[in-house]
Amino acid sequence: MSFVNIKKQYLAMGMLVFVLLFLFNNKPAFQCQFSPEMSSYLPPIYGITPTYARLAQKADLTRLSQTLSLVKNFHWIVIEDSETKTKLVENLLKESSLKYTHLNVKTHKAKHSTASGVEQRNAALEWLRGYLETAEDKKGVVYFMDDDNTYSLKVFEEMRKINKVGVWPVGIVGGMRVEMPLVTNGKVTGFNAVWKPFRPFPIDMAGFAINATLFLDHPDAKFSRKVQSGFQESEILKYFTTKEEMEPLADNCTKVYVWHTRTQKPSILNVKKLKHTPVPDDHIEV
Ligand SMILES: *[C@@H]1O[C@H](CO)[C@@H](O)[C@H](O)[C@H]1NC(C)=O
Repeated sequence: MSFVNIKKQYLAMGMLVFVLLFLFNNKPAFQCQFSPEMSSYLPPIYGITPTYARLAQKADLTRLSQTLSLVKNFHWIVIEDSETKTKLVENLLKESSLKYTHLNVKTHKAKHSTASGVEQRNAALEWLRGYLETAEDKKGVVYFMDDDNTYSLKVFEEMRKINKVGVWPVGIVGGMRVEMPLVTNGKVTGFNAVWKPFRPFPIDMAGFAINATLFLDHPDAKFSRKVQSGFQESEILKYFTTKEEMEPLADNCTKVYVWHTRTQKPSILNVKKLKHTPVPDDHIEV
């Protein structure tokens, strides 16, 4: 009798140990699933890219979209300078694995105005404000991106550190090898720029990013067609920061993580002037 009882007790103990082991074994598994997500929160980056139809458009957008597909928690806002959204851009966005918003607004340029992307960037900011107002997570970073620049993945890592406005050098721009904020003791004290150095902020669009929440605090902040060329950056930055408040990133502005590259305008031969007329290719999207 007692022998049977002991066996039952062992059985119960065994089961208890088994259950405890099961629980303890599972605990780290749960932690692995949730904790790192919580501790490595990445604020979303809203990349605002105006674009317009031209022969190299698809090539430029393909290169950029494939860079962006390597950036975590990225939201691409692409604004076409056109009356309607084009199939080319629509399909390119759909086929990318990116989170995106596709907008369009046609520029009606006033005489003497050479600024590009003003209406498009403002349309994106308007959309972003509406989106953030209803969004649960209002945190994020706004970065104005040309469709033909070259971006290292490192520039996106840098901009996630921003509190208000972060700045960094831009390669091959403004007639210089590198245009950059000058930093002393971790503070921006000036700018190394030769093109219109009298600008309030002589800095390229690719050389800064802004805390997205600030666009809700400053609902009037936008680009303007009234300012002279080269002053768009100063126009938007004046709402958010002073030189002294700027946060120098990329190792105190000693590293180049973005280049203001330009795609050369392709020259296509006039088929009417050729001896051998090529096969028509109008049906092929280039
Ligand atoms: C930037 O410079 C400041 C002041 O010299 C220094 O404390 C800080 O560590 C530097 N930051 C980086 C990322 O090198």
